[in-house]
Amino acid sequence: MRIISKLSRPLKGELTAEADKSISHRSVIFSGLARGESVIRNFLLAADTLSSYNCMRKLGVEMTREGSFIRVEGKGIEGLQEPFQVLDCGNSGTTIRLLSGLLSARPFFSVLSGDSSLNKRPMKRIISPLNSMGAVINARSQGNYPPLAVNGQRLKGIDYTLPVASAQVKSALLLAALTAEGETTLREPHKSRDHTERMLHAMGARIQEEGLKIKLSPGVDLLPQEFIVPGDISSAAFFIVAATIVPGSELLIKGVGINPSRSGIIEVLIQMGGNIKLENQQVISGEPVADLIVSHSRLKAVEISGDIVPRLIDELPVLAVAMAAASGTSIVHDAQELKVKETDRIEAITAELKKVGIQAQAIEDGFIIEGGGTLKGTQVNSHGDHRIAMSLAVAALLAEGETVIANPEAVDISFPSFWEELERLGK
Ligand code: S3P
Repeated sequence: MRIISKLSRPLKGELTAEADKSISHRSVIFSGLARGESVIRNFLLAADTLSSYNCMRKLGVEMTREGSFIRVEGKGIEGLQEPFQVLDCGNSGTTIRLLSGLLSARPFFSVLSGDSSLNKRPMKRIISPLNSMGAVINARSQGNYPPLAVNGQRLKGIDYTLPVASAQVKSALLLAALTAEGETTLREPHKSRDHTERMLHAMGARIQEEGLKIKLSPGVDLLPQEFIVPGDISSAAFFIVAATIVPGSELLIKGVGINPSRSGIIEVLIQMGGNIKLENQQVISGEPVADLIVSHSRLKAVEISGDIVPRLIDELPVLAVAMAAASGTSIVHDAQELKVKETDRIEAITAELKKVGIQAQAIEDGFIIEGGGTLKGTQVNSHGDHRIAMSLAVAALLAEGETVIANPEAVDISFPSFWEELERLGK
């Protein structure tokens, strides 16, 4: 249980954004495929990314870690070895999906599994296109849910249009394509996060992008890199929204990744009337980064749909809280992907926000939030989902009295110091 009281004072001060989860996963997986020594700085030390780290070690990649600094001795893709044990992906969809793509093309057998949430998440979205490349993957429930048993094969390239914009599916297929026979072409309906493309490009892969089309030609040895992981806009989002809605607040959030395929939250909050300034913009390890100055603002309602949705998909639960603090009715459409995240986030966020007095309504492809009401502290539940836990904590800052959040340890998945940071900045 975690008890959060209504903030009687503004949030003030500065914080360095927690390291990016998506980029940390990729840095540790991709450096294990290069030939030679890579180093990773500012690796996210959280349950999800440590799942990727531990799986790569079980695949025979030599790595040493001191805090958030990792040295990786890559022996090339061919250097990966058959794992002796089940690869435990924990709660991490990125780990299981990226590794499935990679391992379907390795000449050995492997089994991937996870916790009770991960083993309920759909895998057909990767298994079907991988099957078309020649992959042999068995899975629970007519081939849809983990555990996954992968019998590695020699694959062939594919020309494939993704039915949903998904960086995990795209990345799984690109990893499979690295050693496939012939070229692979992927098309996305909307652009999803492009960290994989950026990294593969920097590592010397023959990858080209043209609008929503990506082409990869196999047969190149990946080059080792120095990866410096930027701050995670998805973790910073909780403090961006908190500073925007708590009267009198002003926060400086340093080192936030502002890759355009991730920065939809900044655009939407500015459109709602949010006061967010970007300073000290630079490019680090191929990723744009900035310091954000965020101050309290009067928000107005917004409608979200279409192309922007994949660019803020993980921030929608906390945006629901911003919408509750705005004047007017906000609507989110085209976000049905939220149903297959760590929990059904449409159901979870609307059910929990209703408990604190917010008029929230789940709809088929998103939600409707009536802004401007009074929030009242009560018992709520994270549903074991890190982003629901942190979104509820932000709502609690405005709720009269005390809000008791059950299962608060879910934050360890992506942002283990969240509770301490919240306490520090609210003091
Ligand atoms: C991620 C991609 C997104 C996102 C997830 C992390 C990634 O999912 O929701 O938290 O690291 O590739 P999709 O693959 O469904 O877009």
